[in-house]
Amino acid sequence: MAEFRLPKNSRIIKGKHFPAANSVSNVRKFAVYRYDPSSDENPRVDTYDVDMDNCGPMVLDALIKIKNEIDPTLTFRRSCREGICGSCAMNIDGGNTLACTRANDEVKGDVKIYPLPHMSVVKDLVTDLTNFYAQYASIKPWLQSRTPPPPDQERLQSKEDQELINEPAACILCACCSTSCPSYWWNSDRYLGPAALLASYRWLVDSRDDATGERLDELEDPFRLYRCHTIMNCTQTCPKGLNPAQAIAETKKMLVERKY
Ligand code: SF4
Ligand code: SF4
Ligand code: FES
Repeated sequence: MAEFRLPKNSRIIKGKHFPAANSVSNVRKFAVYRYDPSSDENPRVDTYDVDMDNCGPMVLDALIKIKNEIDPTLTFRRSCREGICGSCAMNIDGGNTLACTRANDEVKGDVKIYPLPHMSVVKDLVTDLTNFYAQYASIKPWLQSRTPPPPDQERLQSKEDQELINEPAACILCACCSTSCPSYWWNSDRYLGPAALLASYRWLVDSRDDATGERLDELEDPFRLYRCHTIMNCTQTCPKGLNPAQAIAETKKMLVERKY
């Protein structure tokens, strides 16, 4: 798992402790990163004692319980609770993952929760994904075809061609991979990062797309693609079990063996 690193010059101050009631016997501590742009006490880590006998099994269940019952000021993103929207991505126990699919029992000791690393924090566990989404948009994540669609049916693919896009199309854009990538940490202004490159690969191998040459032209750049040094943090951390590092390697190979 990618290790969490604090941004340069960032010193975390000790935050508040929210103890459980004396009657609670099964207590678990959750240490949560806090950052409030309207406060002078930034950043800090608050500790919440959570009654695990009355809490769901996932880290997201604990966060929702904290927000509902202990501290309504705690801010985080979530939507589906099923590992498909990607919005609850955060750094739990030192690794980037989804709070809704990481079980509290999988974490030993106190549960330490931080925002995705090396990103600007908007508030608490919410990071600014503006650049991440702009990079995704820059790879033109839509079909570019030179031919009109058949009048009476969809554009068909063989089963084998469809299987090529199955895995890259399963990406939920959670940003766990890009924010675990050291190359992305230092060059996110110019390096596209594994999530955008996996999305790019999804269109490069789509048999219905006719813009392969233009897509490869856009990637042939010392930073946009070639800042990947095959460190593999991305693949190791992906909560959907995808392999962006392999997609990047395949893209580099397509450039070397270029036929377009
Ligand atoms: S490849 Fe995995 S970690 Fe990266 S954005 Fe997609 S789902 Fe998230
Ligand atoms: S394989 Fe490439 S994209 Fe993945 S973590 Fe390493 S440098 Fe980043
Ligand atoms: S809430 Fe949707 S992936 Fe976790």
